[in-house]
Amino acid sequence: MSEVIEMLIRRGFLWQSFEIYGGMAGFIDYGPLGNGLRRKLENLWREYFVVNERAVEIDTPTIGVEDIYIASGHATSFTDVAIECKKCGRVYRADHYIKEKLGIEADETVESVKEIIDSFGLKCECEGEFYEPKPLNLMFKTKIGPGRGKKGYLRPETAQGIFIAFKRIADYFRGCLPFGVAQIGRAYRNEISPRQGVIRLREFNQAELEFFVHPDERSHPGFSIYANDRVKLVDKNGREHNLTLKEAIEKRIIPNQILAYFMGKTRRFLIKAGIDDAKLRFRQHRDDERAHYASDCWDAEALTSYGWIEIVGIADRGDYDLCRHSKYSGEDLSVFVPFKEPVRVKRRKIFPKMNKIGPVFRQRAKRISELLSSVEAPLDVEYVELEIDGETLRVDREFFDIREVEEEIHGEKVFPHVIEPSFGLDRITFAVLEHSFDRDIIEGEERRVLRLKRCIAPVQVAVLPLLSKKNFEEKAREITVMLKNAGIFTEYDDSGSIGRRYRRFDEIGTPFCVTVDHQTLEDNTVTIRDRDTTRQIRIELTALVPALNELLATEKDISEFGVIFKE
Ligand code: GLY
Repeated sequence: MSEVIEMLIRRGFLWQSFEIYGGMAGFIDYGPLGNGLRRKLENLWREYFVVNERAVEIDTPTIGVEDIYIASGHATSFTDVAIECKKCGRVYRADHYIKEKLGIEADETVESVKEIIDSFGLKCECEGEFYEPKPLNLMFKTKIGPGRGKKGYLRPETAQGIFIAFKRIADYFRGCLPFGVAQIGRAYRNEISPRQGVIRLREFNQAELEFFVHPDERSHPGFSIYANDRVKLVDKNGREHNLTLKEAIEKRIIPNQILAYFMGKTRRFLIKAGIDDAKLRFRQHRDDERAHYASDCWDAEALTSYGWIEIVGIADRGDYDLCRHSKYSGEDLSVFVPFKEPVRVKRRKIFPKMNKIGPVFRQRAKRISELLSSVEAPLDVEYVELEIDGETLRVDREFFDIREVEEEIHGEKVFPHVIEPSFGLDRITFAVLEHSFDRDIIEGEERRVLRLKRCIAPVQVAVLPLLSKKNFEEKAREITVMLKNAGIFTEYDDSGSIGRRYRRFDEIGTPFCVTVDHQTLEDNTVTIRDRDTTRQIRIELTALVPALNELLATEKDISEFGVIFKE
């Protein structure tokens, strides 16, 4: 177990779920500190990807009926290749096992896995041989309702809840593109053999934004904000680049501004959350690696003790999802986009001959006439086939004329394209914790310190009475209530020496400790101690809340708020 994981468990950030029943790979509990940290990350994400976008947030069920996932392609395509040992029965995810044992990146296909197993004679850890590799679907199946019920799945991504509600959301935006729809929540994947502790979970937390744009749109009005940001890129052929986003577009490494805009914004969000820019890169998916719905995908990857891990995927999903759900549900999920100016076009149109249709088709005549009028007429058409009441009806040329007409067109129906920044909140939480973990020497002693960004620290301020005496404790409790009432996440602690308490709060990443000492009782001042520098200032109690609020919202140094009296 790594030192960071040991600390995270000991201090109450997270631990394995179902511990008293032996635990189960792929599930973790968030303890008080981990939960606080992840919630703060969620709120920071909201600030970046909802509040500061033309976007809304919705919340849809985590269980979905089977139809959704047939339409989305997950029922057939959301698979990993698995290999099962004939001797011990263990099942491995093939690409991970091959990478671990042979150091080879296998294509994620049955054929490629089989070829590698055969040519290298790859065996199980128990020396047993493998059965033929086969694809395994990663979705958790469930049954909705009693008796036979209805087949359902736990959602493998929050995104589908957004696509299937698209009609309502497009109405909310009055059909006016572009717009974004976000969702934060749990998603589920029945991973084959999750051996990477906290980073490969079967139940996990996503924050996803589906950004809907006109299919012809390639630019983003906000791109200039990030155009000169320098990023590390690994393209789909494995070539590395260190470029500004503007250069990456000019060199056609990133295909359009919308993707680049979200890469830039993602990078800034991750840095703000505490990811070390030196351990951050964007890697484009190889052609054999992309999800079934994506035409391009860039992962933000963080370097951790597990190597480079994906923490965000930014995918171009095109019109895949809206077209599929339109087809499978029968609902038209396109939007009408008005032209700036009406356009005059000539087109060949069918004109029903009611005097002929009426006597032959009788009560169906009106419906036939309506349907005929909506058919685009090619040059030589001898008959038209219409779908009426589930029946295909042939209507011959004698029942209609074809004439060329000029019409004024005011707009067009389009299926918006989707750019999807999808964030794995658990992995981001873990990477932030690893990147923040540090050691230094204070007063000749080594200390462990979590240099969390102030805005996401789960405990923002600790209030500590210097001595365990009634008057010190009462004052400290009073201050704790005052800070909590001001909305500051505060803990009171009177156990152990002051030095030990400072170390405890350093280790859990608390940016500031407020100490009640002898002088507090004389002149209503307290000290504020900065976690990173351990310097202290003395400040009037009346100025404490505004000072802490400003310190927590910024990177300002405590010396701006009082006189340093302890270096
Ligand atoms: N929505 C993208 C993913 O879940 O991977």
